[in-house]
Amino acid sequence: MAVSNEFIEEVRRRNDLVAVASEYINLKKAGRNHNALCPFHNEKTPSFMVSPDKQIFHCFGCQQGGNVFTLVMKLENLSFLEAVEKLAKRAGLTMPAVARSREAVEKNKEQESLYEANELAAKYYEYCLQESTEAKTAQSYLQKRDLNAEVINKFRIGYAPQSGDKFLKAALSKGFKPEVLQKAGLLSYNGNRYYDYFRGRVMYPITDAKGKVVAFGARTLDDTKPPKYLNSAETPLFSKSKLLYGLNLASSAIRKTGQVLLLEGYMDVIACHQFGLENSIASMGVALTPEQVELVKRYCSKIVIIYDSDQAGVAATLRGLDLLVDSGLEVKVAVQSAAKDPDEFLHSQGREAFVGLVQKALSLIEYRLEQSISLTDLNTVEGKIYVANEILPLAARIKNIIEQKSEIHRLAQRLSLNEETLFQQLDKIADKGFRQKIGQSIQEETSAANGFVKAQSNLLQLFISDTNIYQQWQAQIAPGDITDQNLQSILAALAVLSQKQQIITPAEIIDYLQNEHLTGTIAKLALSPAEGTNTSHLAGELIHAIKNWHKKERYKTLTEEISRKLDAAETVDPELMQEYRELTRIFKGSKVGGRCADPS
Ligand code: CTP
Ligand code: MN
Repeated sequence: MAVSNEFIEEVRRRNDLVAVASEYINLKKAGRNHNALCPFHNEKTPSFMVSPDKQIFHCFGCQQGGNVFTLVMKLENLSFLEAVEKLAKRAGLTMPAVARSREAVEKNKEQESLYEANELAAKYYEYCLQESTEAKTAQSYLQKRDLNAEVINKFRIGYAPQSGDKFLKAALSKGFKPEVLQKAGLLSYNGNRYYDYFRGRVMYPITDAKGKVVAFGARTLDDTKPPKYLNSAETPLFSKSKLLYGLNLASSAIRKTGQVLLLEGYMDVIACHQFGLENSIASMGVALTPEQVELVKRYCSKIVIIYDSDQAGVAATLRGLDLLVDSGLEVKVAVQSAAKDPDEFLHSQGREAFVGLVQKALSLIEYRLEQSISLTDLNTVEGKIYVANEILPLAARIKNIIEQKSEIHRLAQRLSLNEETLFQQLDKIADKGFRQKIGQSIQEETSAANGFVKAQSNLLQLFISDTNIYQQWQAQIAPGDITDQNLQSILAALAVLSQKQQIITPAEIIDYLQNEHLTGTIAKLALSPAEGTNTSHLAGELIHAIKNWHKKERYKTLTEEISRKLDAAETVDPELMQEYRELTRIFKGSKVGGRCADPS
């Protein structure tokens, strides 16, 4: 990264956390601190605390916390640098030009111009829907679909005029170049002249997770004139498989409810929002992709799929399933036959019925189980074998042991078979490649343990070489997090010294500790040069790696403990269970005992 630590510090100093936080949430003074209802999870009593002295926030409910950059990153879905830039602007500072290659600069310029073109188009179509007389049919169409003004504004729904060049002219008059507009997917070129790509259609802007318009879905007003939806072509900004429709508008509700409703279409998402179910997004009519799954995982751990009731909907669900078994997300599928799709369902059956549907959603395997049962006759042996063969390979892939056990239990009941028989089958499936896996996991564990100690010493080295870095991260790491005894003592010393003074030199730590053995370690750390330039960021990564390692250890212990209890038919403390679920959410999908982040 090319922005100096000094600049970052300057930005932080000029952006008081309390003032910045107040722009997003309703803070109340409580003693030395301020508190509020946490913006990151749903709660009735405030457990979100902001300390003006430490310039750090923390939620005692969901344990999220950090400094002013973290807050802005989390609230606005920004990267660290983007948060720095935003706050720099807020304080009237200009971001120092980041040294980049010429290609990168060019690429960035092109992207900017494509964003601008899309934003212009969104505004233009919105304007046309509201102001042009020609948009009457579009208006009455939206009315017929029961969309209210609020939701039309929220989703920035618009109208593209029928004539071939109205948008073109409007854009040219604003100084846009036709080549750029074409590249953005807004114009076509017939070898002779440019003309509007979208004509006589209702326009649904598609945005990225930050809410920037990157493409459009354009619906025909006349069902005899296909295609029903004409979408922007893939452009440098838009790749259908990497986006989820409505995510920018749904993100805070997804975080609050801890769950996302995945639908198929634009109209389904819009209807859900209109009915107050704002944690809804759509995969735009295609099976979920790995990129989309990763995107969802940034926001929550539970996904409920509510696709259309037709055959295509079922097929799409099934295609998306396999991917989701390994995703680490808790996946449910809601099934209904009362309406064509969620949009129709909401309008005909109402909100309560829809919420009921979501609550009754089946687990992924349960859904698949019911699907395969419906295709066969369970009274025959062949039927049972068919279903078992469909389900067991899926069950074998479930990483959460408890979840796996309960699925096998369900399958046994449904097939009237002995659980033991199914478990034996399951072992056979899982056994393939067993030896290879053991070897691999031993190797991984060993290198993880080495990496873990290396991460600790790298972190202390950064702290010693620059007290600012220590101060920046001190709230995120405690001596108890450090397992190496020497390094732990040094961190404890830093904690004590930093209460008295701003700058701590290695010599002072040495004097403070008065321990020959530690002196050597400190000197060595102080003298070896820090790796990389972005040292502050690196420290953050190291802390993350160290904490992750602890969590993984805890996860391993918990998994063993809980599965032992379940085997012995003992009850499991709900708090332990909750903790287990939290950790499962984090680690499912990655190998337990896997590598720490590479500290270089
Ligand atoms: N889709 C598309 N191109 C099409 C048809 C569909 O891109 N020709 C995508 C759109 O994202 C659409 C989704 O698939 O929203 C689901 O299709 P469908 O159920 O047919 O559309 P709805 O959103 O239900 O639209 P409407 O209610 O207006 O028919
Ligand atoms: Mn529909």
